[in-house]
Amino acid sequence: MTLQDIETIAVIGAGTMGQGIAQLCAQSGFTTILYDINATVLEKAETTTMASLAKLADKGKISSQEQEEILDRITFTKDVLQLRAEVVIEAVVERLDVKHSILNEVAQQNKPSTILASNTSSLPITRIAAKVQGPERVVGLHFFNPATIMKLVEVISGAATAPEVTQLMKELALRLGKTPVIAQDAPGFIVNRVARHFYVESLKLLEENVASHESIDRLLQASGFKMGPFQLMDLIGVDTNFSVTSAMFEAFHQDPKFRPSRWQQQKVDAGHHGRKTGRGFYEYPTQK
Ligand code: NAI
Repeated sequence: MTLQDIETIAVIGAGTMGQGIAQLCAQSGFTTILYDINATVLEKAETTTMASLAKLADKGKISSQEQEEILDRITFTKDVLQLRAEVVIEAVVERLDVKHSILNEVAQQNKPSTILASNTSSLPITRIAAKVQGPERVVGLHFFNPATIMKLVEVISGAATAPEVTQLMKELALRLGKTPVIAQDAPGFIVNRVARHFYVESLKLLEENVASHESIDRLLQASGFKMGPFQLMDLIGVDTNFSVTSAMFEAFHQDPKFRPSRWQQQKVDAGHHGRKTGRGFYEYPTQK
């Protein structure tokens, strides 16, 4: 398969990342299918996409005709049978069993050449591929949040990934206007491995009562970071961030430097998942 053969991209999971990835694909001219099991999430994804495109039109970055065409290119669906595409990008919750199950379901109804890309932040691509039909076409395509804006995409090659699949995904990332970096398969790949300490140490400071989360954020912002760790966790999703830390803690054989925070776990248990639930470390009353 070459880049020219890719007409349709299916995105699985319409949450924080899936919505942005689908919008990006449609903005880049691909017929896009966005699927989720949760109707409320799908509705929210559609509203977010419409609002985001309207903003781009208001700023003069796209014409009103383009705004309509981009939206027309996206099908928002709860019907798994509609997921027929040359490339499938999964952005479901960070759980291996869920990723295996949905990727196999989609593999069965697509051609053996369909590429199965995962947006996982921390789960090994090799382990995802091992239980999916055709592991050579399973690859990591790790976008950053917000996917429409952040330039970096890590393209991760698992032990079984065919080199031409990795190469094609690099070309696709370029076609989506991104800066791809190829990484070999390692827990957390490159960025999340380095960034883990930003979150883990900040949570430790909070637990040790060294400073409040607001102070830590203000301080790190003043030192040059665009966002503080707690603002970022709220943007990413406190639950997703916690799952990523937990997966890396296990993958590194419980290395204490990746130990997940009890404080963060409590927020997850309470449903305080950040912007997407209206409350995380901060409150977002209008985004409920
Ligand atoms: P999210 O919690 O916002 O969205 C996940 C979505 O998956 C939910 O809408 C849920 O309904 C859906 N889902 C669950 N099971 C499903 C199934 N069987 N079929 C279809 N949909 C299903 O999560 P988020 O943050 O978008 O993360 C998704 C993936 O992207 C995870 O693997 C995460 O590690 C990764 N990621 C997250 C980033 C972030 O900043 N949030 C950044 C880069 C990667």
